[in-house]
Amino acid sequence: MAHLSVSHVSKSFGGVKVLVDQCLDVREGEFVALLGPSGCGKSTLLQIINGLIPADGGKIVLGGKDITGKTGTGRGMVFQGADLFPWRTALDNIAFGLEVVGVGKAERLERARHYLNLVGLRGFEDAWPHQLSGGMQQRVGIARAFCIQPTLLMMDEPFGALDVQTRDVLQDELVRIWEAEPKTVLFVTHGIEEALYLADRILVYSKRPARVLREITVPFARPRREDIKLDPQFLELRRDISDLLRHDLYA
Ligand SMILES: Nc1ncnc2c1ncn2[C@@H]1O[C@H](COP(=O)(O)OP(=O)(O)OP(=O)(O)O)[C@@H](O)[C@H]1O
Ligand SMILES: [Mg+2]
Repeated sequence: MAHLSVSHVSKSFGGVKVLVDQCLDVREGEFVALLGPSGCGKSTLLQIINGLIPADGGKIVLGGKDITGKTGTGRGMVFQGADLFPWRTALDNIAFGLEVVGVGKAERLERARHYLNLVGLRGFEDAWPHQLSGGMQQRVGIARAFCIQPTLLMMDEPFGALDVQTRDVLQDELVRIWEAEPKTVLFVTHGIEEALYLADRILVYSKRPARVLREITVPFARPRREDIKLDPQFLELRRDISDLLRHDLYA
C-alpha cells in the first residue's frame, strides 16, 4: 500500500484550473521529485497535502489515514526561503514544531540540538536568523522539518535561492540525513540535475493545469556520487527532460 496517496484532487483559483484530477501514490521511504514549469501548480499541490489550502475535491491519505483538509502531525515542510521566525534563535526555530504540540522544554531542546548538530550547525544554537547565511538558514529549515519527525517530508524548492556550491553541499547533506532517518519525500525543484541526483522517481508536469508528462524511475544506485552527473545515461535523461519541458512550454 502507498504511504501517501493523492486521489482525484482538483483545485481552481477564481475559475483558473490549476489542478485537475491529480493522482499520485508514493511508497514509504520513496524520494519523489516534482519538476514542472513555473505556475503549473506544484506548490499548490504540496499546500493541499499539507492541509494549508483546501482542495475543491479529492482525497489525501497518509499512512492509511484520511488527512484531506487537515493540518497536523506526520508532515514536515521546507520552504524556498527558510521562512524562519526572526525573533527566535536557531535552536528555538528548530524546536518550534515540538513546542506547538506541547513537548516539554528539556526534551524539545534536546531533540532540536540533535537536528541542529545533524545539519552541521553546532555552535550556532543561539544565533538569530539574520546572523546566518542563506545556506545556514536553509539548514535550520531542514532541521526544523526533521525535528517533528514527520513520516512525510515536503520540500518546495528548498535550495532554489542558494548559490551552486552551497546547493551541492546541501544536496549531499540532505541525502545523508535522509539515509540516517528515512522519510517519504516530495521534493519540488526546477533543477533537472538536482532531481536526477536526489530522487528515486521523477514526475515531470506540464504547464497549468498540471498533468504528468512523464514519470521516470531514476536508474542510478545509491549511494550516488557527484560523478554520476557526468554519466552518459544521466546526461541523456537530463537532455530528454529538458526537451520535454521546452516542447510543452511552446506547445
Ligand atoms: N492563493 C492563490 N490565489 C490565486 N491564485 C493562486 C493562489 N495560489 C496560486 N495561485 C495560482 O495557481 C497557479 C499555480 O501556482 P503554484 O504556486 O502552485 O505554482 P508552482 O508550480 O509552484 O510555480 P513555481 O514553480 O513558480 O513556484 C498559478 O497560476 C498561481 O497564480
Ligand atoms: Mg512553487
